[in-house]
Amino acid sequence: MKKILAMILVLAMALSLVACGKKGPEVGIVLPTKDEPRWIQDETRFIEALKSTDYGVEILFSQGDSAKEKQNVEALISKGIKVLIICPHDGAAAAAAAEAAKKEGITVISYDRLITGTDAVDYYVTFDSFAVGAKQGQYLIDKANGKGNPLYLYAGAASDNNAFIFFEGAWSVLQPKIADGTFVIKNSSEAVALQNKAQLTRDELGKIIGQVTTNWDFNEAKNKAEAHLTAASAEDKGDVFILAPNDGTARAIADAFAADKDVTSYVVTGQDAEKASVQYIIDGKQSMTVFKDVRTLVKDAIDMAVTVLKGQTPATTGEYDNGKIKVKAKQTEVIVVEKTNVKSALIDSGYYPASDFTGLN
Ligand code: BGC
Repeated sequence: MKKILAMILVLAMALSLVACGKKGPEVGIVLPTKDEPRWIQDETRFIEALKSTDYGVEILFSQGDSAKEKQNVEALISKGIKVLIICPHDGAAAAAAAEAAKKEGITVISYDRLITGTDAVDYYVTFDSFAVGAKQGQYLIDKANGKGNPLYLYAGAASDNNAFIFFEGAWSVLQPKIADGTFVIKNSSEAVALQNKAQLTRDELGKIIGQVTTNWDFNEAKNKAEAHLTAASAEDKGDVFILAPNDGTARAIADAFAADKDVTSYVVTGQDAEKASVQYIIDGKQSMTVFKDVRTLVKDAIDMAVTVLKGQTPATTGEYDNGKIKVKAKQTEVIVVEKTNVKSALIDSGYYPASDFTGLN
């Protein structure tokens, strides 16, 4: 017995030595929050994809707090990372964290959201966010008949550069249809004031977003939708069209509209193909989502990191202006998913198992 115990002890000591000798992570990944399924999706896909690499990786979440995000980056710097993959909570506030990393010679890859106002970003991996907004807007257009259709506009957080691009994309197709009377904006005086302008400046976009922001927050989205419905007359309702910026806010806004007795029907957009929204689409409670295949974004980010670790230059497909520099970017396409193609796009493609949903046919 004693002998066995001694052997276990020796083995444990040997193992802890190996553990001590193990190098720290080469790649640090910082994601914005665990409170939205979107970013849990990214974490899951990162873990899956990383199984096939030999590099040490650590993933941290910032919980919607730029101070926590900075601490996360500092912790990863002290562990000796060589590449930082970071999706900022607030694009401008994250500049300080990126600069701290850059000062240590770390390559900074902005993931999904661009870090703005700094030259400390080396690369950007992103979906085509303009196309996300344009596809949302086009979906509403394709479902509308005649003139005077009530339109309710919602946006993401103003601290997220993507929120501007999504809205700009949606506006690019919706504005002509507002100008020709197909749609009538019901919930934003700022958007009404700009409705004859095809292209908006960042300031103008900021004015509208400031008024109809959800801050990417489900509760804020719900409260705002309820307030808009309370303020609107019965004639402003009926068959309504809703530009909702993403799935989480779409579900919250859809629930509010569904509960209003003067709303006969609603068409509502989304993005991310979150499981809860896929179920909403199957159940006819959300009209569409824009599917952004996170596996591709994760693969692009990892490939980029590995290329950098090998001392080579990653391939990019374009650039994004972050207000300070043009950041070299790799961009991924997106697709519209609605009830008719939910199975082929998300289940048959192996993205989600059918068993995660009910009522699928
Ligand atoms: C992402 C979306 C996400 C939103 C809220 C955006 O930057 O691109 O996919 O729904 O943030 O987290």
